Amino acid sequence: MKTLFLDANAPDTAAIAAEIIRSGGLVAIPTETVYGLGANGLDENAVLKIFEAKGRPQDNPLILHVAQPGEMERFCHDIPESAYRLAEKFWPGPLTMVLPVKDIVPKRTTAGLDTVAVRCPDSDVTRRIIALAGVPIAAPSANISGKPSTTTAEHVRHDHDGRIDAIVDGGPCRVGVESTIVDLTEDRPRLLRPGGITPEQLIEVLGDLVVDKAVTAQIDKDAVVKAPGMKYRHYAPAEPVVIVSGSREKAAAYIHAHFTPGDRVLCFEEELALYADCAPLAYGREADVNTLSAGLFSALRILDDPGIHQVYARCPVGGGVAYAVQNRLKKAAAFHIVDAEAEA
Ligand code: TXA
Ligand code: MG
Repeated sequence: MKTLFLDANAPDTAAIAAEIIRSGGLVAIPTETVYGLGANGLDENAVLKIFEAKGRPQDNPLILHVAQPGEMERFCHDIPESAYRLAEKFWPGPLTMVLPVKDIVPKRTTAGLDTVAVRCPDSDVTRRIIALAGVPIAAPSANISGKPSTTTAEHVRHDHDGRIDAIVDGGPCRVGVESTIVDLTEDRPRLLRPGGITPEQLIEVLGDLVVDKAVTAQIDKDAVVKAPGMKYRHYAPAEPVVIVSGSREKAAAYIHAHFTPGDRVLCFEEELALYADCAPLAYGREADVNTLSAGLFSALRILDDPGIHQVYARCPVGGGVAYAVQNRLKKAAAFHIVDAEAEA
């Protein structure tokens, strides 16, 4: 199959992409979080192609992307008032809500659950594609399953050239980590995945938030979990990653003491000079956490190289968007963390 490359700014792009979606094809779409691998979310056969292209386990449900907040009513029932408040405040944007699903959504999309994840992405071209297609787009992150997510069209080309119908190039993703997921189907709202909408922002609207244990700890792969995707090993480069926590000085002392040729250091720009002899790669500035979220997956992709033995990674501390960066980096490290303060 020849993969079509479409520029988000070209006048025909939305119409061409929408036609491919309508006819059951696969289109990689830009969003503010990461690129998605999209298909008609109401067409079981089209959705099956997503699972095949990604090598994704079939028990891992997809997010339905809508063009307008109000469209969630086509696919969800018993929508709580809190969902409307969140949509009002954060859509279009990096927030996904889990709600009771209507029968119109095929089981293949929801992996047989009685809920569906919905999101209205903050990308003009993608919302235009959805609106022109007249159907919601089911889209996971476009990476091959288990690998770091795709935050540029080039990442998608690397993973899927010749295997999907089209890629819409909307430039690098602004947020860079996948959307925040909040489950609104229980008595209390539950954070299933941290992202660009922070726990603090959710609490401001909801007044309450339970953090699911899959966010903070490694989940056994046979466990029953709320977000099935959370139990799989994720974002992982080819070699082991270890997070080295603690002050800049203590972490540098630990890493220099353990570094051997063939290792790499994933650090903040402010630390590059400290690791000049340790093959450092910076993913953003510690002083601006948005640069870290935007740069993390590109860096993990560069480090996905079987020639590397071991990656020592520096991770931002604190809440807000840093909480999402911590979550992705901990998953890439399979929750392997060394405290340089304790080691010194
Ligand atoms: O930012 C994003 O959310 C991106 C872009 C493309 O929108 N999409 C994305 O999709 O990250 P994916 O498939 O890589 O991650 C979706 C996560 C998975 O962990 C999945 O298990 C969970 O959402 N999920 C989907 N439907 C669910 C449901 N009904 N209940 C609980 N979790 C659900
Ligand atoms: Mg994903």
